Amino acid sequence: MKKIAIFYGSSTGNTKTVAHSIADKLTGCDVHLADISNAAAEHLTEFSCLIFGTSTWGYGDIQDDWESFLPKLKKADLNGKRVALFGLGDGESYPDTFVDGIADIYDAVLKCGAQVVGQVPTDGYNFSESRAVKDGVFVGLPLDEDNQSNLTNQRLEAWIGELKSCFS
Ligand SMILES: Cc1cc2nc3c(=O)[nH]c(=O)nc-3n(C[C@H](O)[C@H](O)[C@H](O)COP(=O)(O)O)c2cc1C
Repeated sequence: MKKIAIFYGSSTGNTKTVAHSIADKLTGCDVHLADISNAAAEHLTEFSCLIFGTSTWGYGDIQDDWESFLPKLKKADLNGKRVALFGLGDGESYPDTFVDGIADIYDAVLKCGAQVVGQVPTDGYNFSESRAVKDGVFVGLPLDEDNQSNLTNQRLEAWIGELKSCFS
């Protein structure tokens, strides 16, 4: 059975709710779900497949618990690991910094040697700019519970379907 870990950082509970939903949808996998505020860098290396989720706060800032964890993440050896990213944001109130937090984790895991999987086209999202867009696609799955919560489930289903093959 595939061992997958999901680590999330969440300030008001939206990212946490989505992380639980992802765990429920990863049927047939052995899923470890944890808040990044309780994680140690050694935990990450126990899994070959990792999913990291963050929200974005301030003006394009990664969620606080992730901000504290990033220095530890940057020291982890993630060579040979596949990493998928998701991020919660608000594209209408913060159109120029939409889900920017994803980009901070992306930059860190790339430097640690990970292979990032689960890129998502920008179609259907309302935003102007995002550091999480590289080469025209989001480097992870953006979710906008503030304005597009009706699309969250279908976005999750499509993304997880793709991840299952990336993680196999
Ligand atoms: C003060 C404040 C600042 C925010 N800044 C951003 C931002 O820069 N970019 C963005 O995409 N979303 C921003 N958001 C939206 C949150 O990321 C969004 O509500 C998210 O669902 C919160 O998730 P959480 O409860 O897991 O922390 C902001 C929200 C608030 C209240």
